Amino acid sequence: MCGIVGYHGHRKPKDIILDGLKTLEYRGYDSAGVAIFDHGQVKRIRAEGKLSKLESQLQSLDFDGRTGIGHTRWATHGTPSERNAHPHTVDGISIVHNGIIENYLEIRDYLLAMGRKISSDTDSELVAHLIAMEVPKTKDLLGAILNIIPKLEGAYSIVVIWDQKADEIVSFKSGPPLILGIGEKEHIIASDIQAIVPYTKNIIYLEDHEIAQIKGQHYTIYNSKGEVLKKPIVEMHWTVDRARKQGYPHFMLKEIYEQPRTVAAVVKPFISLDTETLDFSNLQKNSTIPDLESELQKLERLVIIGCGTSYYAGLTAEYFIEKIAQIPVEVELASEFRYRNPFLPKNTMVLFISQSGETADTVAALRKVKDMGFYTMSLCNVPHSTIDREAHVRMYMNCDAEVGVASTKAFTASIAFLNIFSLYLGKLKNKVNVAAEKSHVRDVMDLPAQMEKALSYADFFKDHAESLKTFKGFLFIGRGVSYPIALEGALKLKEITYLHSEGYAAGEMKHGPIALVDNKMCVIAIAPKDELFEKTISNVEELNARGANIVSLGTGQNEKLKRLSQQGYLALPDAHWSLTPILSVIPLQLMAYHLSNSLGYDVDQPRNLAKSVTVE
Ligand code: M6R
Repeated sequence: MCGIVGYHGHRKPKDIILDGLKTLEYRGYDSAGVAIFDHGQVKRIRAEGKLSKLESQLQSLDFDGRTGIGHTRWATHGTPSERNAHPHTVDGISIVHNGIIENYLEIRDYLLAMGRKISSDTDSELVAHLIAMEVPKTKDLLGAILNIIPKLEGAYSIVVIWDQKADEIVSFKSGPPLILGIGEKEHIIASDIQAIVPYTKNIIYLEDHEIAQIKGQHYTIYNSKGEVLKKPIVEMHWTVDRARKQGYPHFMLKEIYEQPRTVAAVVKPFISLDTETLDFSNLQKNSTIPDLESELQKLERLVIIGCGTSYYAGLTAEYFIEKIAQIPVEVELASEFRYRNPFLPKNTMVLFISQSGETADTVAALRKVKDMGFYTMSLCNVPHSTIDREAHVRMYMNCDAEVGVASTKAFTASIAFLNIFSLYLGKLKNKVNVAAEKSHVRDVMDLPAQMEKALSYADFFKDHAESLKTFKGFLFIGRGVSYPIALEGALKLKEITYLHSEGYAAGEMKHGPIALVDNKMCVIAIAPKDELFEKTISNVEELNARGANIVSLGTGQNEKLKRLSQQGYLALPDAHWSLTPILSVIPLQLMAYHLSNSLGYDVDQPRNLAKSVTVE
């Protein structure tokens, strides 16, 4: 969602803030702005639209100050416009804000009754008024902020400067992330690690209700009572290079092509290459549960919770955890789970999947499960993110920064990890013997090479994008472990092409969706050679008989499926049934990418979407 960068140090803030905001562009935004000290005053420049617009307005401007804040805004309250863009400045107080102030109507009424003049439609400006009304009394920014925090309800991370203090930035949060970067005689406060890594690897993650004050060359962290806290500094190992396109036209394409490497990287720490067996002994190090292995042995139910693509990774894993480890699995949408009265029987553990580790609904569901007294596990890509910090057992997608809004490599890394995790659980439960373990591990080790073959279908979609984009709609179908892949394929396509697409279990066609099918409809059938293949092919026959235009994904040269697939047949390598999702999703990612590109859309920053959904 919105992006925040604040800087105080020996360099000129303008470039650092702009560069930082550029690295956050992927999060989605519709306006941007900065407020930077110049000749003892704060100058504010804002622009609706892309950052390049703000950049051109800033080009000729020089600021002599060393303190500034900047923001990319994803509209929640009030339309995207310059008037509503951040920073909001009131009586010398300038603020940038991520999140939503839920009691903003109440605060607005109070401010109007106090005779304040409100000049935007945002909830954020109201916070600037509250602080501006407080500083004349406290005479310092920190004190004013401590006084107004109890008045705020909702989710927020806020960074503030005051035109009376040219060397000070104060920030505070309850919900969306804020990270303090500690450099040599400089500090950066940002909503995302990527804005910080070019300058320093030393960071502090602010927890909710903490306040970070940068003053001159020093920083101090306080709790909401104003007491000084000692917080550990962690070292972040992401490099700047990892967040660059490296010659690809888009991050999404780079990330699609990285997948053979990232899948290999996510399983590597848990496989002993010499013996071709699993080695999960390191997991205990990432756990606050004293004897994790015996806890997992007792496991009678696993609940998996996530949103969007992470939810679909959970749905995919359900098939192989139930079959390989023979543990009942339930997969839940975080946004539903958090407001239900879920019943969790004893010996249940809950696994949270989240690339960003910051998705608001998933964070809320995690806290709910912890309050209910159950053990939690996380599978995140971003180390030290909120979900990663708060779960009892921390596991990683290990696939470097994912920048494209449409998630790709995080999905395949999640499935690859959960695949070997299911084998590990199966071993703990005595459901997997050594021969089966070795054979499965070998299949996993073969996977990256097979993924290269799946990547070769880029040309097919490049060549067919013109004709495919003319269909009125797209139905993705699959059975068993290919059903969540149908859901994921449809999500990818709609996210970045805005074409109507739906994912369905192939067996559901006759229960309604087949009514949509005619010769203007494109069907993407995911039908690897597994025990459900014959069932899926019957569905494809039925759709073919009703004029659907079929593209299918099968195993090897499957003549039967090929004959039914007028729009194209894509032969995938033969793999263990539980690994086919990792192969079949790749052509679907490529399809979404090439159609979006051919439609002329912004692949990495699709409309209305944000990379990390840190508010409800
Ligand atoms: O960071 P998370 O994995 O928690 O994000 C969950 C979803 O917001 C995310 O997967 C979203 O659906 C992607 N845009 C899908 O491509």
